[in-house]
Amino acid sequence: MQRRSLHSLRMVWKIMGPLQACKLLLVIVSLPQGRTSSVVTVNGRTENYVLDTPSGVQASLECAVQNHTRDEELLWYREDGIVDLRTGNKINTSSVCVSPISEEDDGVRFTCKLRRDQTVSVSVVLNVTFPPLLSGDNFQTIEEDSDVSLVCNVKANPQAQMEWRKDNDILVLEKGRHQIQETKESFRLSIPKVKKSDNGTYSCVASSALKVETMDFYLVVTDKVPGVPVEAIIAACVVVFLTLAFGLFARRKRIMKVPKYSKLLG
Ligand SMILES: *[C@@H]1O[C@H](CO)[C@@H](O)[C@H](O)[C@H]1NC(C)=O
Ligand SMILES: *[C@@H]1O[C@H](CO)[C@@H](O)[C@H](O)[C@H]1NC(C)=O
Ligand SMILES: *[C@@H]1O[C@H](CO)[C@@H](O)[C@H](O)[C@H]1NC(C)=O
Ligand SMILES: *[C@@H]1O[C@H](CO)[C@@H](O)[C@H](O)[C@H]1NC(C)=O
Repeated sequence: MQRRSLHSLRMVWKIMGPLQACKLLLVIVSLPQGRTSSVVTVNGRTENYVLDTPSGVQASLECAVQNHTRDEELLWYREDGIVDLRTGNKINTSSVCVSPISEEDDGVRFTCKLRRDQTVSVSVVLNVTFPPLLSGDNFQTIEEDSDVSLVCNVKANPQAQMEWRKDNDILVLEKGRHQIQETKESFRLSIPKVKKSDNGTYSCVASSALKVETMDFYLVVTDKVPGVPVEAIIAACVVVFLTLAFGLFARRKRIMKVPKYSKLLG
């Protein structure tokens, strides 16, 4: 290839003369090098986009260069980390495969870039849809009159409608007795000063367009252990102290007697 261009150059030189040939060479050198006219596409699209996909399936993203005149190396990024690509999967076209797609891939950005000019790029953000996933500490034993919170952690896309039920019935929320706090990732029921009647099975119900998911939380309210009052403890201590003191006093009399005996016996 180089020998051929060298040969053509010599021909041009002969035909045009040195000055013209130099001018032509200058034009050629300064032509396409500076800015690239190459564009990249991901799955045929030239602009950033959101890919809607359920979890559990495989997603393949194919990046390709267009309007290029030579080998173009491509780079793939997952968020800010570069993806390790096999040789043969870097020049002109390059694909990455996410398999299987999980909930953790939701919101993750994949970007294909031209190595030579990294401003030429296309990003894809995954929108992974999955049924509600519930978790939490679902066995609690609590003494009457203590405060308790049932926290149902939830992950879902699309967002789920949340509800608490008690012993398979709608939980009638009493003002001042129940408090509900909802964030994007948790659904909390707080009961200050639990009563024996709060004992039971609470169900955290998450309804999304994909599925209705339920998790049971068992709340066991135990009798309040009667507290021992401080006065009683002090009184008990005094009694013990006095008993010991009297005991010693009585012993002392006997102790004092003993030498007398020994004296008599001795
Ligand atoms: C690719 O090149 C053709 C011809 O030069 C041009 O019409 C087209 O707009 C280019 N495509 C892109 C995406 O730049
Ligand atoms: C990449 O594309 C260029 C321009 O079309 C072409 O000359 C080259 O052979 C291609 N390289 C590979 C490895 O396909
Ligand atoms: C993700 O997909 C769901 C279901 O198709 C849609 O309701 C939601 O708006 C999408 N979210 C984003 C950020 O695109
Ligand atoms: C308290 O609730 C638990 C959990 O639902 C249940 O197993 C237990 O039988 C209940 N105890 C009483 C006394 O209702």
